[in-house]
Amino acid sequence: MNTPSLLILPGDGIGQEVMDEVARVIEWMGDKRDVRFDVFEDVVGGAAYDKHGTPLHDATLAKAQEVDAVLLGAVGGPKYDNLDFSVKPERGLLRLRKEMDLFANLRPARCFDALADFSSLKRDVVSGLDLMIVRELTSGSYFGEPRGIFEENGQRVGINTQRYTEAEIDRVARSAFELAMRRNRKVCSMEKANVMESGILWREVVTAVHADYPEVGLSHMYADNGAMQIVRQPRQFDVILTDNLFGDILSDCAAMLTGSLGMLPSASLGAPMENGRPKALYEPVHGSAPDIAGQEKANPCACVLSFAMALRYSFDMGEEADRVENAVERVLAKGVRTEDLMQTEGSVPVSTSAMTDTILAELQASL
Ligand code: IPM
Ligand code: MG
Repeated sequence: MNTPSLLILPGDGIGQEVMDEVARVIEWMGDKRDVRFDVFEDVVGGAAYDKHGTPLHDATLAKAQEVDAVLLGAVGGPKYDNLDFSVKPERGLLRLRKEMDLFANLRPARCFDALADFSSLKRDVVSGLDLMIVRELTSGSYFGEPRGIFEENGQRVGINTQRYTEAEIDRVARSAFELAMRRNRKVCSMEKANVMESGILWREVVTAVHADYPEVGLSHMYADNGAMQIVRQPRQFDVILTDNLFGDILSDCAAMLTGSLGMLPSASLGAPMENGRPKALYEPVHGSAPDIAGQEKANPCACVLSFAMALRYSFDMGEEADRVENAVERVLAKGVRTEDLMQTEGSVPVSTSAMTDTILAELQASL
């Protein structure tokens, strides 16, 4: 098989610095594990706006469509707050998701034991937590038409449309059930079927798809109750399946259970390409954190773990993915912490690159 290809899009703010660290892990994989990639790099978000006047250049999109996987840092920052909506950094990311048709967004929330005390919830509620949110990513109220701000009877009205076709629900439901088959075989689907027709259809289609996965247990929950249950007793969940907007909110909520946004990776997957690999983009759940950008304070773990997800979901290298995840876990167990993970005043946090140094040392020790 050809050398697999990766497109790296660091984006804005801490995106660049955490991606520099991932590059070191990728290099280590090549040197020590003979896992090699053709790596390309380009700009996205505000960085692309600065260079091209658009948050996603067509050539970048074309490259993203062509490679085996895209690794993205983060987009956005105060510098771009006053830009026209259509060229805001976030539009670049949303266009990438849409045009690549990355409909299944996998957001694991896993609580590393060493970090259980960082959660705002009690240790015994979150320790051992390992849930996966599957968020629909290319439809729903993020993209539904009509949308816009219109004049109506002398005043403005803001409109977005929650819209799902059966096919859109069907395919993301299949992703969730497939994933559950490789985990603890439980799917909880969340919508608002009590108030929204799109929720009624969602529930019907998910129930129909379930017939193809009899080994998986399926439950349904209204999304508001789901938010409460995620905070009340998060370990009841294995895979949570939900739409674009609810998934955006519920995944931030689940993220906080784990103690730090700086630890959480994500994968956005589409249909299989000719080579059988899914179209894929991997990115940390955290944002561009402009307040700490350029200060060597960012936690590179979420981005490193996003690369691990790429190894697992795009390249079928589960063993190497485990190796990276275990290295991160051991680093945390040893008490090495970036600033976002500092608990006691007076302790000294390590820098972004020092964190990666220790991850690389653990990788080395795993050989
Ligand atoms: C996320 C983010 C994005 C979203 C923004 C940056 C467009 O919040 O990935 O969760 O709303 O999907
Ligand atoms: Mg979000």
